[in-house]
Amino acid sequence: MSHDPASQTRITWKPSGPYVIEGPVEIRDNNGDPIEPPPAKIPGQIKLCGCGMSRTKPFCDGSHKR
Ligand code: FES
Repeated sequence: MSHDPASQTRITWKPSGPYVIEGPVEIRDNNGDPIEPPPAKIPGQIKLCGCGMSRTKPFCDGSHKR
């Protein structure tokens, strides 16, 4: 199994906040249909809600800050 760090997708867990995904990834719903992520502040970055309060699940909408 190859472990080229430059080509790996990285997920960073922010406690009480989002899971930040950097790298190629496809997000799908329960039916297997792709879900388009909202525009990211940092291009190529996707944030999944880890706090449960987002109104745009599965994506983070910043509600964890309140
Ligand atoms: S982690 Fe940001 S709204 Fe849940």
